[in-house]
Amino acid sequence: MTFTFAVLLCFGLSLKPRSPVLAGVLPKPTIKAEPGSLVTRGMQVNISCMGTSDAQKYLLFIKKFKNVQHRQSSTIRGEKAVFSINSIGQYDGGQYYCFYVTTSGWSAQSDNLELVVTVRGTSPGIFENKPCLSVLPRCVVTPGKNVTFKCFSQEEYDSFIVIKEGEQKHSMIMESQKTSAGQFQALFFVGPMTSSSSGTFKCYGYYKANPQVWSEPSDHLEIQVLGSAMNTKLSKDVCKPKTASNTQDHTVENLIRMGLAGLVFIILGTLLFEHWRNQSWTYHEAGK
Ligand SMILES: *[C@@H]1O[C@H](CO)[C@@H](O)[C@H](O)[C@H]1NC(C)=O
Ligand SMILES: *[C@@H]1O[C@H](CO)[C@@H](O)[C@H](O)[C@H]1NC(C)=O
Ligand SMILES: *[C@@H]1O[C@H](CO)[C@@H](O)[C@H](O)[C@H]1NC(C)=O
Repeated sequence: MTFTFAVLLCFGLSLKPRSPVLAGVLPKPTIKAEPGSLVTRGMQVNISCMGTSDAQKYLLFIKKFKNVQHRQSSTIRGEKAVFSINSIGQYDGGQYYCFYVTTSGWSAQSDNLELVVTVRGTSPGIFENKPCLSVLPRCVVTPGKNVTFKCFSQEEYDSFIVIKEGEQKHSMIMESQKTSAGQFQALFFVGPMTSSSSGTFKCYGYYKANPQVWSEPSDHLEIQVLGSAMNTKLSKDVCKPKTASNTQDHTVENLIRMGLAGLVFIILGTLLFEHWRNQSWTYHEAGK
């Protein structure tokens, strides 16, 4: 027991043979974005870097592809610096990280914060269409079943992303494919479903040239996996997205109904006419 502990301790120490006087060895700061790391163009975004109380300066960097840019420095002394972007633009998307400096040197680099900006219509034909999200076979399933998400658009996005609300880190990404109908889509095979797979999903499209700029999100799609006590209370409306496509479905439904009613009317009319014609024939023959 003691031996194991000693070995672990030695191993741990040997992994971090660091001396606090060297540059870059103070503990890494924590980087965070408010209101979040997936934001809409035009929003105010605060990127905070939290180090130690004896920090004298904070530096913020942004990395896009392999290009690193010094974004801003803050000479605020103390535990935390907040870099405020008043109106976030599409070129502000990227990987952010920060450092702080004290009299004993530089801190280690913070983790990367991936900041994604959603936009709409940046130039003609680009980001003009939010994608649509659907699921097969249906959005209320039993545990153990697999489902397939389909994210699609008329716009030629390079890739699509499906995200479950509140779990941005576990997003699913797929390259898009052109269908024979000239639409662009990606299929996401998911399963087997468990009761914890229930949730609200949406998808986004993006272009490879700028993976940190996404389209507006699709309408929300709610998935329910039956079986857990919480989910047995079934609402009938879960499959219905909350917008236009829905009313469109109704219009189509109504058209079909009206068409059917018309058809029945025509058939009845024809039968009656035939009947009347046969009767008049009989009448004529009888009267002859
Ligand atoms: C960003 O910081 C400013 C000033 O500290 C504050 O007024 C604002 O509410 C913050 N915005 C967000 C989105 O946190
Ligand atoms: C679900 O998908 C997995 C692979 O991801 C497959 O092995 C399994 O057979 C599928 N189950 C059903 C019910 O189709
Ligand atoms: C009309 O009369 C013809 C011949 O008598 C018969 O074959 C046909 O089924 C009749 N049609 C109707 C609608 O009664």
